[in-house]
Amino acid sequence: MSTPVAVSPPRITRAARPPGPPRRGLAGNLREFSADRLGSLDRWAREYGDLVSARFGPMPILFANHPDLVEEVLVRQNRKFIKHYRLRQAKLTLGQGLLTSEGDFWRQQRKLAQPAFHRDRIAGYADLMVGFTDRLLAEWSDGQARDLQADLMRLTLEIVTKALFGAELGGDAAEVREAMETLMHSFLATTSSPVIVPRWIPTPNNLRVKAAIRRLDRVLFRIITRRREENQDRGDLLSMLLAARDDESGRGMTDRQLRDECMTLFLAGHETTASTLAWAWSLLAQHLEAEARLHEEVDAVLGERLPTLADLPKLAFADHLITETLRLYPPGWMLGRESIAPFELGGYRFGKGVTVFMTTYVIHRDPRWYDDPEAFRPERWADGLLQRIPRYAYFPFGGGPRICIGNNFALMEATLVLATIARKYRLSPAPGATVEVLPSMTLRPSHGMPMIVSQR
Ligand code: HEM
Repeated sequence: MSTPVAVSPPRITRAARPPGPPRRGLAGNLREFSADRLGSLDRWAREYGDLVSARFGPMPILFANHPDLVEEVLVRQNRKFIKHYRLRQAKLTLGQGLLTSEGDFWRQQRKLAQPAFHRDRIAGYADLMVGFTDRLLAEWSDGQARDLQADLMRLTLEIVTKALFGAELGGDAAEVREAMETLMHSFLATTSSPVIVPRWIPTPNNLRVKAAIRRLDRVLFRIITRRREENQDRGDLLSMLLAARDDESGRGMTDRQLRDECMTLFLAGHETTASTLAWAWSLLAQHLEAEARLHEEVDAVLGERLPTLADLPKLAFADHLITETLRLYPPGWMLGRESIAPFELGGYRFGKGVTVFMTTYVIHRDPRWYDDPEAFRPERWADGLLQRIPRYAYFPFGGGPRICIGNNFALMEATLVLATIARKYRLSPAPGATVEVLPSMTLRPSHGMPMIVSQR
């Protein structure tokens, strides 16, 4: 008779990693992703669920497609993560600015910059937002074809430069825009490549990027030097940063630190809002009933005058329109973090060095949170939808400690610019023009936004 062997009950085990698309060769899933970024995100979410595992080159990647998983990473476990590898690469351009810095240094810089974005403070920027828009409209004429994206990029760059640094770009504007374009293109090229080429290798891309940074630096250092010499508190962000002193050493910021913050706000503070507005007009041109409602509201609230800060609470439809645009075309279409400590997510355990991409674009179009999710329906926001859906089912500005510092600035700017334009003009797509989305640093139209502007 054989001796009975103690058999332990089978352990409930889970696969070592969440499901995901098959990995191919050295690049893993990067080629498939680079060929169609939004399509891949969407397909993988449908096929593999709320947490998808993949590999980009040697790097383990997770895609988080559920609001609760986003909340885990951005809020509950935020201390276990830093910004992801591609954003860290942007340090060559942005240095140690708010977007790319980490830890105590980031905390201190955020504390210094925060007051400049306080509601009371940004209220003072309303008039200049409207004034610059009106100045742009003075260049438009009835029936003219315009590249709306280019016009809006110029406008939002002028606004952020004036509001935060008290400067006008004047003759430098074209040079700054060109340099910015170079940086955006380079971003797209590097994020599609499975290998990370160090910046010191003189590839054509690296040389172009360095030249663009030199050009931007010249402009920024000129603004900083002028303001140091002026030695006057103008109440804008640059004044605050210039006056800031370290609690312990009493030292102020170096020119380099100031440059890094200014460069970050230059970049983070204009293309995002410009793209949002361009998409808003593109959607309006396809939904004439929404356009009519906007015109009705703007006419009733403003009559013949330009909008002011006091009008914002009355421009409810314009506000819902921007909210809906940011749902369908969130400039931050996916947000990335990399783990610096072991973490748990969706019932799985992971170690350090795992990149988690939170898929804003997919979550914003998920039928679990939105009826008829692909439809443009600004009125869906009119009856408290935001309170009924999970907190991170709508997060165009991110969340947790790293939430966009410019969110109120951007919302105010978008609504005021929209109302100022709608007061005078109707916009329709230029004949034969097709507009495609380009998921680059932001979700922008791939070849501008050609439109015909008609006086109302
Ligand atoms: C519609 C317009 C905008 C959108 C959709 C947007 C979106 C975002 C998102 C999603 C983040 C978080 C990124 C992450 O967690 O990885 C962010 C961060 C940031 N944004 Fe915005 N943004 C907009 C406008 C602006 C404006 C106008 C400014 C400045 C004037 C600005 C400055 C910043 C800065 C400095 C950060 C980094 C904050 C930190 O880490 O402390 N953004 N933005």
